[in-house]
Amino acid sequence: CGIVGIVGKSAREIVLNGLSKLEYRGYDSAGIYLNDQKGNEYITKTVGRIQNLKDQMTSDEQGLVGIGHTRWATHGKPTENNAHPQYDETDRFYLVHNGVIENYQEIKSNYLSDVNFVSDTDTEVIVQLISKIARTENVDAFTALKKALAKVKGSYALLLVDNTKPDHIYVAKNKSPLMLGIGAGFNIIASDALSVLDQTKTFADLQDGQVGDITNDSYVIESLAGEPAVVQPYTLKIDPNATSKGTYEFYMLKEICEQPGVLRHLEQFYLDQNGEPQIKAKIIDMLAAADRLYIFAAGTSYHAGLVGKVLFEKFAGVPTEVGFASEAGYHFPMMSKHPLFIFLSQSGETADSRVVLQEAIKRNIPSLTLTNVPNSTLAREATASLSLEAGPEIAVASTKAYTAQIALEAILAKALGEKIGNENARAFDLKTAFALAAEGAEQVISSKEKIEQLAQKFLLPSRNAFYIGRGIDYPLALEAALKLKEVSYIQTEGFAAAELKHGTISLIEKGTPVIALINDPLTADLMRGNIQEVIARGASVITIASKKLAVDDDDIVLPEINYYLTPLVSVVVAQLFAYYASKDKGLDVDKPRNLAKSVTVE
Ligand code: G6P
Repeated sequence: CGIVGIVGKSAREIVLNGLSKLEYRGYDSAGIYLNDQKGNEYITKTVGRIQNLKDQMTSDEQGLVGIGHTRWATHGKPTENNAHPQYDETDRFYLVHNGVIENYQEIKSNYLSDVNFVSDTDTEVIVQLISKIARTENVDAFTALKKALAKVKGSYALLLVDNTKPDHIYVAKNKSPLMLGIGAGFNIIASDALSVLDQTKTFADLQDGQVGDITNDSYVIESLAGEPAVVQPYTLKIDPNATSKGTYEFYMLKEICEQPGVLRHLEQFYLDQNGEPQIKAKIIDMLAAADRLYIFAAGTSYHAGLVGKVLFEKFAGVPTEVGFASEAGYHFPMMSKHPLFIFLSQSGETADSRVVLQEAIKRNIPSLTLTNVPNSTLAREATASLSLEAGPEIAVASTKAYTAQIALEAILAKALGEKIGNENARAFDLKTAFALAAEGAEQVISSKEKIEQLAQKFLLPSRNAFYIGRGIDYPLALEAALKLKEVSYIQTEGFAAAELKHGTISLIEKGTPVIALINDPLTADLMRGNIQEVIARGASVITIASKKLAVDDDDIVLPEINYYLTPLVSVVVAQLFAYYASKDKGLDVDKPRNLAKSVTVE
């Protein structure tokens, strides 16, 4: 979900524009509350996109204070009633909320049994509780908020307006991101700085357990217990144009096409002229002290972690385990003596990953976050962090952050390997390898028409599909399959090629598309055998092979690059398949149904 609030400036457009930019965080319903501070207030809520909200609002709905929300449903279906803002039964308090209130049923039955609820959300419980406390204990909104939150368990970033004091926005944060944007004569509060970069570049991050009272020219930040907190404003250095789509029809295509540039930038950012990694000694020492690396992540980042395992084991010789953060949080893996945790996260906000990080902190396990958002929660809370330098990624399906994660893992693997005397690391010419990978990705992008034709011929007519690969192509097959299914809704599985015959081959029918990745010299011949097995059962096979391993009738031949970096190029083919399958089906490529880019609930 995404939230934006502003006080002190004409609020409507700023909130609506901010919400549009946050739509990638959830887009099943949306709402806005405006108050002109002269006694007029407006609330509009709709199912679906921010555009629906804009379409429903009349021109007289304006305000000098406003709060808005775009939702990714957790409790309660995406309906108008369940959309935020939620309000109390006296129509005095309006509240937007990201996160999950875990004990909302308990609060409802313990304190609010006499209240009529109009929604199924956990959020309504907070606003009704605040209202009840304000009335029965005769306290102001800020005090009522703090008293209410003292009873609440869960995650929240929330904004509250009290219409008896509409020149204030009250805010609170626990586990969900929230930042204050400081302006001249106005203040903004949002879940993501990107949403309001056109208004201010000065931000201060709220910390867990903090609450605030914000007006147009002041902000008071305290702990829940009322102790004053110090906030440290900083200037965010992001070019607002980096978040625009330019001439591309969708962000996803823009971000796919940016990958060669991202690789070249990473090469310059993290390698010196001789191709030697330039990573802070503190970080390399921390890695070198570990007897085992544990990578935790979710979704696409998890798949980048699987490639990372291959890189760390090959170039540093350090055993590496990869786990879903969502599983590790509550079923902690067995640890080696000197573990080091690596968190991979595009957004740096994934709640599942944060649970593992918190556990690591408790156990004094050192941690390193690789993220695209240097100020994010996972970056701040880990022992150290490194930036993916990929530039803002807006499309929900991750593309350039995945390649940046793999590239940075390769750099770290080399740096660590050299530090601990690994021969493979020394021989790994990263500078050349990156240059070739960037060029290879570019070549793939320039053959995108052919990829679109193949997608139209084989993927569009099909309900399901497979990606198969061996060696490093197996984790790639998983990511390729995820990409295709998440944006095109073609049910796709990624498989270790030889595993198909152990059961799954029963799903192959006449015309089932099977996309085969052939980059691994050790298993290329076996791979050809696996391809024949599915052809014999009627599959329509598309082959993607690196030049050295290619045969005449391969569909896509990839330029020759270092085997360990082949995912950086092959994945571009897979991303383009996914992109065209989705676009040519007429789907909203950037915002696939039911998904959100940054998931701040567990
Ligand atoms: C969400 C997104 C995925 C992403 C995953 C992990 O589910 O839809 O695309 O891979 O979160 O996100 P992170 O920001 O931690 O990489």
